[in-house]
Amino acid sequence: MQKPVLVELPDSHRGAIMLGAPDYHRDPADAFSELRRAYGPVAPVLLDGQVPAWLVLGHRELIQVTTDTALFARSVGRWRLREQIPADWPLWPMVGGGPAGESLLYTEGEEHRQRAGAVSRALAGIDPVEFRAQCESHAEDLAESFAHSGCAELMAHYALLLPVMVMGWALGVPTEEHRDLVAAFTDQLAGGDRALAGNQHIHRTMQKLVRKVRERPGADVASRLARDSIGLSDEQLCQDLIVTLLAGHQTTAYWMGNSIYRMVTDHRHKNAFVRGRLAVSQALREVLWDDTPTQIFAGRWTSRPAHLGQVTVPAGDLVLLGLAAANRDPHLRPEPGAAIGSRAYLSYSHGPHSCPDPARDLAETIVTAGIEVLLDRFPDLHLVCPPEQVRWQPSVWMRGLESLPVTFTPTPPTTRYAGGTPWI
Ligand code: HEM
Repeated sequence: MQKPVLVELPDSHRGAIMLGAPDYHRDPADAFSELRRAYGPVAPVLLDGQVPAWLVLGHRELIQVTTDTALFARSVGRWRLREQIPADWPLWPMVGGGPAGESLLYTEGEEHRQRAGAVSRALAGIDPVEFRAQCESHAEDLAESFAHSGCAELMAHYALLLPVMVMGWALGVPTEEHRDLVAAFTDQLAGGDRALAGNQHIHRTMQKLVRKVRERPGADVASRLARDSIGLSDEQLCQDLIVTLLAGHQTTAYWMGNSIYRMVTDHRHKNAFVRGRLAVSQALREVLWDDTPTQIFAGRWTSRPAHLGQVTVPAGDLVLLGLAAANRDPHLRPEPGAAIGSRAYLSYSHGPHSCPDPARDLAETIVTAGIEVLLDRFPDLHLVCPPEQVRWQPSVWMRGLESLPVTFTPTPPTTRYAGGTPWI
């Protein structure tokens, strides 16, 4: 069925491609190369409902957009099409109108500087040794829950669970609530009838956490954020905790999934992980360069007309950060192997709104521990189906696997395991 056209199309966007068209997910990198060939570093594109936007594909242009926060601003209130797009537009949650409305994500200037700084300080207070131990312990429990069976679906039963469990611990969510929190994330991610209930559960859990740390502060991230001298209101505290949990959930889970997928389909990566020929951190970095979970990030809005690449973007237009495309910009990487040893990838974005440094370290610790525990326990992992048959999430924004079915030699339970399948 033809979808309704939500807004009048400007001349600049006539004939533009629709992001997320059926064959787009098979190989987004190919779609980005074609766009670059047709338009250069900034391409007009359409989102669901033929909503026009500009996709930044060039590395240099993306640095410009993410650095100049006055011209390429973060508040969705600047979007000139905002009033014309209905409240039930399915992309609102990712484009600024979702439940994160009051969060630091869409603030600008001094308010953003203060709130992002407070989140960074609170995350930086996590003891790295204890965090690593938590990652290993949770990963071992998860691995143990399917070790005897000789097969597992590693997205649902491993990669999507580990980040929520360890970040739940770091934030200060009581252990007995982790299980329900994991279920709420699973429901929310599935996007079906239970998605809204899942979202409400996450909100209620964070409200409870806020009440707890106001009354009895501890040594966790929520308590540090509550105590920060910027003085967040209860609702701001709740929203910023939700963002911290959400921002690290899918990104980290898909990074882990994409890395395991490479490991079981690409001999060079398998050697890297199993035989230590390439440091794990280097192999994970290669995944950020070439298969980043964060493909496109929405967004920025122009505060006045802006010259960008070969185009002039009118004031109030939506600019999408083409993070994956910029990582493969031929100006930066004339050959596929160029720059790959560096950290110049834009998977975490760039500039004042980019992923906070302490969050990047936590994500790397989670993914590294998750993969090391898995390989230690199951050195002979095999993908169940041919690599081209795995299904990718039908998302414009993220690249992650719908499922990752593997087999391995079954192992008997270890003594540290209490039994049961805690998260399934
Ligand atoms: C424990 C894991 C993580 C945590 C706690 C976390 C936390 C955050 C937070 C709080 C923000 C908001 C920053 C702001 O608005 O100032 C953010 C933004 C972001 N994060 Fe992360 N993150 C995690 C993992 C990741 C990973 C693995 C990736 C990708 C590889 C990623 C990519 C991004 C991107 C692209 C943004 C938006 C940047 C922008 O608007 O320019 N994050 N993250």
